[in-house]
Amino acid sequence: MVRIINVCGARPNFMKIAPLMRAYQAYPDIQPLLVHTGQHYDANMSELFFRQLGIPEPDINLEVGSGSHAVQTAEIMRRFEPVLEEHRPDWVVVVGDVNSTIACGLVATKLGVGLAHVEAGLRSFDRTMPEEINRLLTDAISDLLFVSEPSGIENLRREGVSQEKIHFVGNVMIDTLQANLARSEQSRILEELGLAPGGYNVLTLHRPSNVDGLTSLGRIVDALDVIQRDLPTVFPIHPRTLANLTRLGLGERLRGLPGLRMVEPLGYLDFLRLMAGAAVVLTDSGGIQEETTILGVWCLTLRENTERPVTLTRGTNTLVGADPERIVSAYRRCRSAPPSARSVPEKWDGKAAERIAAVLSGGS
Ligand code: UD1
Repeated sequence: MVRIINVCGARPNFMKIAPLMRAYQAYPDIQPLLVHTGQHYDANMSELFFRQLGIPEPDINLEVGSGSHAVQTAEIMRRFEPVLEEHRPDWVVVVGDVNSTIACGLVATKLGVGLAHVEAGLRSFDRTMPEEINRLLTDAISDLLFVSEPSGIENLRREGVSQEKIHFVGNVMIDTLQANLARSEQSRILEELGLAPGGYNVLTLHRPSNVDGLTSLGRIVDALDVIQRDLPTVFPIHPRTLANLTRLGLGERLRGLPGLRMVEPLGYLDFLRLMAGAAVVLTDSGGIQEETTILGVWCLTLRENTERPVTLTRGTNTLVGADPERIVSAYRRCRSAPPSARSVPEKWDGKAAERIAAVLSGGS
C-alpha cells in the first residue's frame, strides 16, 4: 500500500488536486487522504469548487482561515503536524505555490515523510512575490518534483536538483480544464450578464503588488477606464481586492465606470465559460495565463514577469505590467487581430495527473 496525504488550501489548489484524486482511483495500491488547510473558506472560494469538480469531501479540515503570512503559515504547520504523526503516510503531495504548500511541505520533511511537489520548478525570479518564496523553498525540500513546462526542468537543474527527482508530467490545471470544457458550455453566465461571445473582456486582480497600494491599483483603474469604453469588462472580485478597493477609496470610481461589471467570485464552470468567450482576458493570476493559452484567448498579464514562460512563447499571453499606456496599447493590438494558431505546450494533454499517480504508485 502507498499511503498519500494530499494537501489543498486555496482556490487555485482545488483545480490541481481534483484530477489527482481521480487518477488515484486507477491504482488499488494507492490509499489517498485529502487535507484542506482552510486557507480559503468562503463558499465561493472553496466549497463550490469541491462540488463542481467532484473533489471528495476532505478527510481533515485544519480550518486555519486568514492571517499574516507568518501567522497563517505557522498555524497550518501547527495543525498539520499531529495529522502526519497520526497517519504517517508514505507521501505528502502539495500543489502550487500558496502558503499551504510550503507550510505542509516543511512539516512533512521534518517528520521524514516523502514530499512530492506538483507544479515544481516555476520561477518568476521576483522574490518580492510571496509565491516565489513558497516555490523556491518547497522545491528545495521536495523528494519528487512534478514539472508542468520545460522551463521548470531548466530551473531545477540550475539549482542543483538531481535529475532522478524531476518528472516532466505536464499540467494538472489543464487536466481539469479539458475535463470540464464541454460541461462549462451549459453555464448560463453569459445570458445572466447579458453578454455575447467575443463581445466582452474579463478582468481578475488579486496580487499584493497590484492591489495593496493606491498607486498601482489606481494605474490599473486608469487603463480600465479606457478599456471598458471599448467593450463591457466583467470583473469577478477576489475578497482581498474588494477590501482594498474600499480601503483605498477606489470603489466609487469603479462603480462610476458604466462598462465595468463587478461580480462576486465565480465558480469554476461559469468562469471557464466566461474566459472561453472573452475577447481579451486581463489578469495577474498564474493559472489564467495557462488556461487562456489552451482556450486560444488573448491574455494580458498585469505583471512584469511570469513564472510560466511557455504561455508567452507558445501561448496567447503578453506581459504588460501596470502602466496604463502599455496596457491600453497592448489591448488595442489584441482587439485588432484574433490570436494566431496556437500550439499546445508539450504534455498539456489532460493526462498529467495520470502520470503523477503512476510515479507515486511506483509504476514508473
Ligand atoms: C492566495 C495565494 C495566492 C493565490 C491566491 C488565489 C498565498 C501567499 N497566496 O492569495 O498565491 O494566487 O490565494 O486566490 O498563499 N479571504 C476571504 N475569504 C477567503 C479567503 C481569503 O475573504 O475564503 C480574504 C481575507 O481577507 C484574507 C485575504 O482574502 O486575508 C487574502 O487571503 P490569503 O489566503 O491570505 O491570500 P490570497 O490573496 O487569497
